[in-house]
Amino acid sequence: MKEYYENKVGVVTGGASGIGLALCEMLLSLGAKAVIMADLNAEKLKAETKRLNDIYPGKVLGIQTDVTKKESVFSMIEKAAEFGSGRIDLLFNNAGLGLVKPFDETTDEDWKFAFDVNFYGALYGIQAVLPIMRGQGGGHIANTASGIVFAPMAFQSMYSATKSALVGLTGSLRYEFWDENIRFSTVIPGTVATPIWDKAGGPPESAITPEESARGILKGLAENERVIIVTDPDREGAINAFRPEVARGMDEYLLNVARQRKSGKAAI
Ligand SMILES: NC(=O)c1ccc[n+]([C@@H]2O[C@H](COP(=O)([O-])OP(=O)(O)OC[C@H]3O[C@@H](n4cnc5c(N)ncnc54)[C@H](O)[C@@H]3O)[C@@H](O)[C@H]2O)c1
Repeated sequence: MKEYYENKVGVVTGGASGIGLALCEMLLSLGAKAVIMADLNAEKLKAETKRLNDIYPGKVLGIQTDVTKKESVFSMIEKAAEFGSGRIDLLFNNAGLGLVKPFDETTDEDWKFAFDVNFYGALYGIQAVLPIMRGQGGGHIANTASGIVFAPMAFQSMYSATKSALVGLTGSLRYEFWDENIRFSTVIPGTVATPIWDKAGGPPESAITPEESARGILKGLAENERVIIVTDPDREGAINAFRPEVARGMDEYLLNVARQRKSGKAAI
C-alpha cells in the first residue's frame, strides 16, 4: 500500500488525537510528502505537530480549525494546499464527537451542533477541497462514520443520525465524482481506544488501538473500498443491519442495550 501514499499530501481533521493522529503518523511512515493536521485543540495540535516534525522534519503542518465553521475549514484547506505546493491528494474528514444524551434531554441547539460537527464539518471539507482535486486531476476523500450506523443504539440518537447522514452523502458522491477520478470512501474505524471514550468511563476491553484502526483504514483506502470496515464485529453488524431474517434478533439485542443503559447497568 506504500505506493498509494508515497509523495502524497494528506489533510486529517481531528488529526491531533486518537485515530486521526495515528493516520497522520502512518501516512508519514508510508512516505507522504506532507501531512496537515487540522484540529480544534490547540494544545494537542502544537505538541503533536512538534513531535511529528521532529521525526519527519518539515513535513507536518498543524492548523487550528473548527470544523463547525465553514470559513475555518475553507481557510484551513487553502493553507494546507499552500503547504502541499498546490496539491491535496487525500482528505480525511475524521473530526467528530460522541454526542451521548437521552433524546428527551436534547435541545434544538444540541441537534444543530451535532450536525455541525459530525456532518457539516465533512461537507465543508468536501466543498473546499473539490476544486483543488479537480484541478490536479483526482484525489481521495475519506469520511469517518461509525458502526453505530448499522446498530443505532439508545441515547445515541444524535450520533446515529449525523453519522448515517454522512454515509449517505459519501455513497452518493462516490458515483457522482467517480469519472473525475475523485474517490469517496466511508470509514467505519472499529471500536478504538481513544479519548472519545473518556466521558463514557474508558473504552471497552475489546477496543483496538488507533494504530490498528489507521492501518485498516489506509489499506482499505489504497484498495478504493466503498465502505472500509476495519473490524469483524462491525462487518457482522453491516451484514445484519437490514436483513429481515435477523430483524427480531437485532431488536432483542438493541432493546437489551437500551434497557441496560436506562437502568445505568451499562456505560455507553
Ligand atoms: N474511537 C472509536 O471507538 C470510534 C468508533 C467509531 C467512530 N469513531 C469516529 O472516529 C473519529 C475520530 O475519533 P477518535 O476516537 O479518534 O476521537 P478523539 O477524541 O481521540 O479525536 C477526535 C478529535 O477531533 C477533534 N475535534 C472535535 N471537535 C472538533 C472541531 N469542531 N473541529 C476540529 N476538530 C475537532 C478533537 O479535538 C480531537 O482531537 C470521530 O469521527 C469518531 O466519531 C470513533
